[in-house]
Amino acid sequence: MSTHPSQISVAATTPDRLPVTLPRLRDMKHLGEAIVMVTAYDFPSARAAEAAGVDVVLVGDSGAMTVLGYPSTVAVELDEMLMLAKAVRRGLRTPLLVGDLPFGSYEASDEQAVHSALRFVKEAGCDAVKLEGGGPVSAARARAITGAGIPVMGHVGLTPQTATALGGYRAQGRSADAATRIATEAVALQDAGCFSIVFEAIPSDVAAELMTRLEVPVIGIGAGPATDGQVLVFHDLLGIREGLGARFVKRYASLQDEMVAGVSAFAADVRTRRYPEPRHGYSIDQHELSSFRERLT
Ligand code: KIV
Repeated sequence: MSTHPSQISVAATTPDRLPVTLPRLRDMKHLGEAIVMVTAYDFPSARAAEAAGVDVVLVGDSGAMTVLGYPSTVAVELDEMLMLAKAVRRGLRTPLLVGDLPFGSYEASDEQAVHSALRFVKEAGCDAVKLEGGGPVSAARARAITGAGIPVMGHVGLTPQTATALGGYRAQGRSADAATRIATEAVALQDAGCFSIVFEAIPSDVAAELMTRLEVPVIGIGAGPATDGQVLVFHDLLGIREGLGARFVKRYASLQDEMVAGVSAFAADVRTRRYPEPRHGYSIDQHELSSFRERLT
């Protein structure tokens, strides 16, 4: 009998690894150990992250595009994000699990932000939440959520939820003014109590300068090598997508090609009746079969 994925013990894959905590991330920063973060959106991607021993898993609102097929991250609802986060939780034991607050779930008021963050923790079992932007509104929301006892990860630079206001999906902080704005935002998020900050799509030299001014672990995506860790979107790094994606993406597999090849081979087998073979079927005792046939007549 084959084993259903849910019957595989997650603990069996990483038996000695302790769950990653906020103090552990701080220690990693101080010891100079690179922090590995990936996104995940479902049980299999969580299982892959667990088995690979990553440190932090983000149920990113990038899931709006990678698994839900929206044209951007703007439309995804909190309830949709919670469904993805619950599936990830079921596949994860050791990495710190961060739920991404979607656009519209935290901007209106501190109460709304705390309520949405609580849902990620209570309903989906997340350890922390992430929000985008470091302006006065985002910093205030980060302060309110951390004040309610929920750890918050900040996110500055390219913030896809407000990409329209930023002039599209493009690198940020490429002028002294823009880089200064990002510095101000990052420090504001740290002062608001964020335990970590994501830098997305900013010049490597700008990120390196900011690293000397931040005490919390910084995770980069398109921010060069100076940050304390790196994050990539699961579907980008594994090539589960059409097209190449942003310049900062390094592709470690081409699973979309493999998926298309696999489904095409199945379709060809079905059409030529090469599948199923006898070994894929179930047998019945000949006596039972005869008796069944008699009942049919
Ligand atoms: O939603 C996401 O995947 C993110 C990462 C790119 C950090 O915010």
